[in-house]
Amino acid sequence: MTRTGPVGVGFIGTGMISNTYLENLARFPDIEVIILGDLNVDAAKARALQHGVGQWGTVDDVLAHPDVEVVVNLTIPAVHAEIASKAIAAGKHVWTEKPISVDRQSGRDLLVQADQAGLLVGVAPDTVLGPGMQTARRAIARGDIGEPLSAQTVIQYVGPDIFHPNPEFLFSPGAGPLFDIGPYYLTALVQLFGSVASVAAVGSQSRPKRTIRAGDRAGTVFDVQVPTHVSAIARFVDGGVSQSVFSFDSPLTRMGYVEVTGTEGTMIIPDPNFFTGEVKITRAPAFEAMGEKPVWETVPITGAYAERGLGVLDLARASRTGATPLASGELGFHVLDTLVAIDEALTQEQVVPVRSRIDRVPLVADDYDPFIATL
Ligand SMILES: NC(=O)c1ccc[n+]([C@@H]2O[C@H](COP(=O)([O-])OP(=O)(O)OC[C@H]3O[C@@H](n4cnc5c(N)ncnc54)[C@H](O)[C@@H]3O)[C@@H](O)[C@H]2O)c1
Repeated sequence: MTRTGPVGVGFIGTGMISNTYLENLARFPDIEVIILGDLNVDAAKARALQHGVGQWGTVDDVLAHPDVEVVVNLTIPAVHAEIASKAIAAGKHVWTEKPISVDRQSGRDLLVQADQAGLLVGVAPDTVLGPGMQTARRAIARGDIGEPLSAQTVIQYVGPDIFHPNPEFLFSPGAGPLFDIGPYYLTALVQLFGSVASVAAVGSQSRPKRTIRAGDRAGTVFDVQVPTHVSAIARFVDGGVSQSVFSFDSPLTRMGYVEVTGTEGTMIIPDPNFFTGEVKITRAPAFEAMGEKPVWETVPITGAYAERGLGVLDLARASRTGATPLASGELGFHVLDTLVAIDEALTQEQVVPVRSRIDRVPLVADDYDPFIATL
């Protein structure tokens, strides 16, 4: 029998980012958070009490709960696919934090498993569903910058060891700036240009050990296992090229820099780690005005504003309506395929083809409203 009313959600992984998800999901009437689970049941309990969630327990408690329809997987990247696969095996749809996995095979296997079970997989980031990126995509589709030709993206800062209480996983295989923050920028690029055809990259590591700066374990020294600066270039199947910097090695913080150049203008797109921001366009100056400050037109932002958790809502609604989630497993897999290809390119020092393909991701409907009950 098809259920009605809010979709029951269970969390696996109740660390740092679970706070943000719990705050935001509480605002969506189509979602009801039923239970929180973690390897560390005390952490799940503390988080549940903090947010007024009535039940907590182990991973198995979440998976066995009859009212949980969607599992929100907020574990560390190394176990994303394993936990997501368990959720599918338990008959649950799954939303997973990025990346979908840390290797192609387990990511692909997960999608096959879900497909065979008739269950949905959605993958972060959902920031691209926010009004910032959606407004930019609509403007580009209208031809506001002509034919898109190229893009540049930059995210650089000192690294998450400065704020995360348990940052080791962010410097381990499956993370580093490429796999940890690369998904935001690459998902944005794929939303703008479509499937990636090939990539090349170079990478480096500023130092082999880092020190935790925040929380109870501040002062602890740990090994850095991945490149902490990556420069990557990509070519897209339908045309267009991009260049990107992903760095945990820069004293100068520069975040959220996404610039798309078309035949008629250059567009600044909001930080893909956030849901909104400013969309601005500048056009080529007359020869006499070259060297002067660029003149910017601002594109008015349209669409409903919500934060992290929007993708869970979209997936939860899709699980009832039969729609395909916009932040889909296929998109998450194509981004993973691209991340792995960049990693291979920088190790092998050659151009690496990206084999997977995805259809152009549909836009969020104009009248999408996360804050009304629809189910
Ligand atoms: N922290 C952020 O600002 C942030 C932002 C966006 C996305 N993310 C992503 O969210 C995910 C979680 O990040 P976090 O910062 O909350 O990490 P965290 O280390 O604070 O929390 C991870 C939690 O997962 C649990 N866990 C680990 N392995 C498990 C397993 N096998 N079974 C059950 N529980 C397990 C841990 O006990 C811990 O409570 C990561 O993929 C990260 O990339 C984090």
